[in-house]
Amino acid sequence: MNINLLTFDTIDSTNTEALKQARLGAEEGVCIVARQQTAGRGRHGRTWVSEPDAGLYFSIVLRPKIETQYLPLVTLMTGVAVHDTLAEFGVAADIKWVNDLHVDGKKISGILAETTDTPKGLAVIVGIGINLRSSNFPPEIADTATSMQEQRPMSVPPAVAGGSSHPTNPSELAEALTKYITYFYDILQTDTGATEIIDEWRKRSTYFSGKSVRVVLENESLEGVTDGLEPNGALRVKLNDGSVTIVQAGDVEQLRAT
Ligand code: BTN
Repeated sequence: MNINLLTFDTIDSTNTEALKQARLGAEEGVCIVARQQTAGRGRHGRTWVSEPDAGLYFSIVLRPKIETQYLPLVTLMTGVAVHDTLAEFGVAADIKWVNDLHVDGKKISGILAETTDTPKGLAVIVGIGINLRSSNFPPEIADTATSMQEQRPMSVPPAVAGGSSHPTNPSELAEALTKYITYFYDILQTDTGATEIIDEWRKRSTYFSGKSVRVVLENESLEGVTDGLEPNGALRVKLNDGSVTIVQAGDVEQLRAT
């Protein structure tokens, strides 16, 4: 995959721009990076707070050559790639199913994958937000979010005196990210890719098995213990009555330390 990085100062959402480019026929590997987003989006219609230079706001166009049933693995593959990117910068994160990167229980990164039909076939837009600084967290996420600055103060240069900051890290981060995405995306598209990605995910997530969780679905919430992943990345949760429920989509919260 040829990486082609397009950078913006301000944009509504890097995912929206990548969707637009994909529909216009962009090759896979086109990446959109912005210093700030005015309409950053998270999962379930949530807002992704995107203050200038406070995070990496990154989206990539992918055109995966895999069976449709395995498309959810693109998100898991990305979680693995973000995990290794953070590790390269000295941040040890856990992957919370399905797409959150946490450090000490606080969110440092989120992933939003969206699909769209294009004249060249289906495209998957993978958007990644990584918190670089905590200073601008709004009160509602201040207790539940963390940043690279908080975890590894030396990895984020201080703001330029007297004005907006121009950290070099977003571009260094983006470079590492594209390296790991390319690596794991290639693996995903091999014959054994699906099982390999699940195995890589298992090695990096405490949520794979034995974790007491609450799963919040659209109309109900369930409690149980995680019991591995299905071949397409869905989460298996063993309920108190011994039955196993398969969660394709939903929010997972840790119930208590196990
Ligand atoms: C989530 O955890 O809910 C997913 C958050 C994804 C945020 C990123 S920031 C770059 C890209 N552009 C967006 O509008 N959203 C994603």
